[in-house]
Amino acid sequence: MINVALGGATGKMGRTVCDIIQKSKDMRLVGAMIAPTEEMFGKEIYPGIIAKGQDSLDEVLENADVYVDITAPQAAANIITKIPAKGVNIVLGTTAIPDDVIKRMKEEIAKNNTSAVHSANFAVGVNVFWKMCEVLSASLDGYDIEVIEAHHNQKMDAPSGTAMEAVKRMMRTTGIDTVTYGREGLTGARKREIGVHSIRGGDIVGDHTVIFVGSGERIELKHSMGSRDALAKGFIESIRWVNGKKDGKVHDLNEVIGL
Ligand SMILES: NC(=O)c1ccc[n+]([C@@H]2O[C@H](COP(=O)([O-])OP(=O)(O)OC[C@H]3O[C@@H](n4cnc5c(N)ncnc54)[C@H](O)[C@@H]3O)[C@@H](O)[C@H]2O)c1
Repeated sequence: MINVALGGATGKMGRTVCDIIQKSKDMRLVGAMIAPTEEMFGKEIYPGIIAKGQDSLDEVLENADVYVDITAPQAAANIITKIPAKGVNIVLGTTAIPDDVIKRMKEEIAKNNTSAVHSANFAVGVNVFWKMCEVLSASLDGYDIEVIEAHHNQKMDAPSGTAMEAVKRMMRTTGIDTVTYGREGLTGARKREIGVHSIRGGDIVGDHTVIFVGSGERIELKHSMGSRDALAKGFIESIRWVNGKKDGKVHDLNEVIGL
């Protein structure tokens, strides 16, 4: 039995993952953290599981093998560097965590010989989409690249972590070192850059489009997320995969799904 503690248990993504954990035969929820401002704070959110705050981290992790974080950038940054020293493995889904915090988490994981899975997107299709971005950007030399992402109107960060992972990979394959976020006013001619645009509205789970524009032709690569189920599946597989691992490393979803 895999004992799982989860930060963000009442969130849109966290609740979906918790519901699957509760129904599965090989894992169970042993701890949950949510924001102290929430109505459910201090209450029983699943049988025997009281929603606690980050100041109860030790209690929440007491019986955990794996900690899953799907909270918010600052909330995750507060605790993820402290978890490896407690001997608990991590599945990290929260996006927009500063690079220096991720670096410190990696150092702590190496020092304490624990393991983690970290991905800006836990859907298999998105991981294939990222690979296709690499292939297309490497093949379409000199084409202009524009990235458009769309999410629900409650999303806290922009651009999405998924869009920025695509951008990071295409910067590597093309050598482009400038990213332009939105455009306004007298912008002048387009530079050698990757353009990034964020749309927010309604209940869009997550759409990502990359447009490669050449002279007289263009290719559009699009991934649409219809529900959070595809993401939840990746989180659940990652929990199983990372449980018991002790290699001092942070892995991405490609390793979990064998892409
Ligand atoms: N990697 C992925 O595949 C993936 C998928 C979906 C969402 N996300 C990311 O996960 C995060 C959460 O997304 P969401 O849509 O579920 O958000 P949400 O706003 O619906 O839920 C956030 C959850 O975090 C909790 N939280 C916030 N501040 C906290 C604090 N200080 N201490 C403890 N808990 C706290 C809230 O109580 C809530 O349960 C975002 O960063 C989002 O980008 C990643």
